[in-house]
Amino acid sequence: MDAFVIEGGKPIAGRFEVHGSKNACLPMLAATLLTDDPVELSDVPHLEDISNMLRLLGELGVEITQKAQPSRGGRVVLASVVDTSLSHARYDIVRTMRAGVCVLGPILARRGEARISMPGGCAIGPRPIDLHLRGLAALGASISLANGDVVAKSPAGGLRGATVFLGGPFGSTVLGTANIMSAATLARGRTVIESAACEPEIVDLGRLLISMGARIAGLGTPRIVIDGVERLGGASRRVMPDRIEAGTYAIAAAMTKGELTIANWPVDALVGPVEMLRSAGVEVELSEHQPLDTPGGDPVLATAYVRRGGALRPVEITTQPFPGFPTDLQAQAMALLTLADGNSIITEKIFPERFLHVAELLRMGAQIIRHGPTAVVSGVPKLVGAPVMASDLRASAGLVLAGLAARGQTVVRRVYHLDRGYQRMDEYLTGLGASIQRVKENALEEATVAV
Ligand code: EPU
Repeated sequence: MDAFVIEGGKPIAGRFEVHGSKNACLPMLAATLLTDDPVELSDVPHLEDISNMLRLLGELGVEITQKAQPSRGGRVVLASVVDTSLSHARYDIVRTMRAGVCVLGPILARRGEARISMPGGCAIGPRPIDLHLRGLAALGASISLANGDVVAKSPAGGLRGATVFLGGPFGSTVLGTANIMSAATLARGRTVIESAACEPEIVDLGRLLISMGARIAGLGTPRIVIDGVERLGGASRRVMPDRIEAGTYAIAAAMTKGELTIANWPVDALVGPVEMLRSAGVEVELSEHQPLDTPGGDPVLATAYVRRGGALRPVEITTQPFPGFPTDLQAQAMALLTLADGNSIITEKIFPERFLHVAELLRMGAQIIRHGPTAVVSGVPKLVGAPVMASDLRASAGLVLAGLAARGQTVVRRVYHLDRGYQRMDEYLTGLGASIQRVKENALEEATVAV
């Protein structure tokens, strides 16, 4: 296992270009199962989760070819279904990547039966899929459990359109919306998804499906209407930029009193985080907006210039479904606010248990009191370096940011969590002025013994 050794206190400055979005790309890759024609995706990021999804697609009869795309640091993936007899997403893969669940709707719709290992909980709390299953059942699927696998079967004559309500105790479900919307593209008749997720990644998936021939209206709203078609064809599409990677690098600049120009900034997807940064006293300037260069009413991009001169002000943040503040930036925002001049309040309304980073930030001198889904962060003038443990992807990012701003050395262990969702973060941050070394954890132990 790898760890990062960070020497803190160096400003993050320069230019960074945001990569393609992991969370948009995963369900888009799963959607390639819906057609026998080739689907080409560009700006596919180099990440562990994407490699696992490509492996899963391989096991499901999809031939994958890839070529490098040096201009934007991603790759072009061409996916073609060559065998439709396979329908089992095994535990070995789904346990490494919960998003494996998003092959469920596409396999069921195209192959009539899907068997997928039931995803377990994870470090950010329980992660049920009851809403996915309820939605597929509304389309006529029969659902059962066998040996830890969910087995879904289409009725004779295939899935049929229906009204599906996807509201749960914490709002809609992002991957549940992806599953039902994808399955409904091939169902007979009309499907109406009420309380659909409005996240930009779902809009991006919907636009891919439309370019494959699907009939979908209402993307980006809580009511999505899908009229089923007989078949979908091939398409070519660029994956939208990763709003969470963009926000994380902006916070890195803000925390270290740096100055960062961030290209490929998805403007509409980041309105909430920009508002938070500005309220905290961070300067965020956006250049003229440009459309993404693919057809079909695409996300608007800009170049962001992020800088912090003066003190950080405390802010109040509540994570919410889009367009609210994203839960996937909560840990990073908390790291930032540990250095604000006063008390900030953070309430987590999507994953109320997503606070494993709190105990680690306390080890670095932060002052945080957690009460249920709310944390009160009392700013301190300085964080101090310490050995800390990454527990999940975004918590790891929060700890790396804290390490960049802290006085002295921080060692973040288990950075494999980070590698799932941030492309070569150590190398990019080092290029922007940070001091980060990737080392093997056992080398750290040996070094400690040698001392
Ligand atoms: N929920 C249910 N029942 C369900 C599904 C979800 O009760 O059937 C609850 C969840 O427990 C949670 C809330 O609804 O409290 C929202 O969960 P959602 O289903 O929207 O999450 P997801 O689709 O599994 C995606 C992202 C997450 C991101 C969430 C929320 C991907 C691959 N994952 O997960 O991203 O936090 O939406 O925005 O798109 C990450 O990238 O670090 C990450 C965890």
